[in-house]
Amino acid sequence: MQALVLGATGHIGAHVVRALLAEGHSVRAAYRSGRFLHVIDGLPVERVRVDLDTLEGLPHALEGCEWVFQAAGYYPRLFGRPREAIARGVETTRRLIEHLRRAHPQRIVFTSSAATIEGRGPNSLYVHVKLAMEQEMARAAGEGLPVVIVNPSVCLGEYDAHRFSGRLILVCARYPLLFSFDGAFNAIYTGDVGVGLLRAAQRGRLGERYAMTTRHIALREFAALVAEAMGRRPPRWRLPWQVRSSWPLDGRVAIRELGLPQTPVEEAIRRAVAWFRSQGDL
Ligand SMILES: NC(=O)c1ccc[n+]([C@@H]2O[C@H](COP(=O)([O-])OP(=O)(O)OC[C@H]3O[C@@H](n4cnc5c(N)ncnc54)[C@H](OP(=O)(O)O)[C@@H]3O)[C@@H](O)[C@H]2O)c1
Repeated sequence: MQALVLGATGHIGAHVVRALLAEGHSVRAAYRSGRFLHVIDGLPVERVRVDLDTLEGLPHALEGCEWVFQAAGYYPRLFGRPREAIARGVETTRRLIEHLRRAHPQRIVFTSSAATIEGRGPNSLYVHVKLAMEQEMARAAGEGLPVVIVNPSVCLGEYDAHRFSGRLILVCARYPLLFSFDGAFNAIYTGDVGVGLLRAAQRGRLGERYAMTTRHIALREFAALVAEAMGRRPPRWRLPWQVRSSWPLDGRVAIRELGLPQTPVEEAIRRAVAWFRSQGDL
């Protein structure tokens, strides 16, 4: 298949590219800035520059593509204005949909987030923006666009050059912690998400949303695993402050229908730490 990966230099996109190449597909890898091209260095892909804000490069990138993977993240700023951030997310999604309608790919895999299912408190701007974008895609699917939506939980693994979820690992790895905090989150190895997106294009039900997760992990255990990967002692004391929490997410549908792989989260953390070391971050 000829596949277009939007956000190919991103954490998830870099894994989607590798999953596609491993099964012999042709990949057009779309990046925006060129700053993070090193994560796809040396791979046999066609590189194209696409800016989803201005739509520059998009029509050319879509030409002749049978599969389109949307993994180009729009992350609202932490303290951004909600109304503007949501409007921007909706507007970029609508414009992308218009182009997808004209290009007629066989399958579109849209990356949303588990946060739209599990929620992170009613005030989380990220959740609001992601939900608004996902709803635009779901509406387009209802009108006949061949879309499958995927909702990964926190992704841990290599090629996290933008350091979105990697920040969590870097903080625990850089600063030996004496304390850990209460709380837990859903996590998955990013390589499994890459394969999951490919399977979503191959076998996903149109209009379906697939939660992708492996394990609900306590923060204290996460901190201990990062410490172990760094060859350090785990945090000794636990403080009763909850810094992050979510309910365990049910990922069984994606495992059953898509054959989503389930690499242990311990291994995902080891690979992430090794990659950050190879990049000189640790
Ligand atoms: N990482 C996670 O834990 C996680 C979990 C659940 C869902 N998600 C969702 O998955 C998607 C991808 O996440 P990620 O962590 O892989 O993101 P990331 O590492 O921050 O990478 C983002 C990618 O999108 C590209 N991009 C950003 N804005 C763009 C624009 N306006 N036009 C064109 N390309 C643009 C970036 O290009 P440059 O390299 O040129 O900047 C980069 O390739 C996001 O929608 C995110 O919400 C992520």
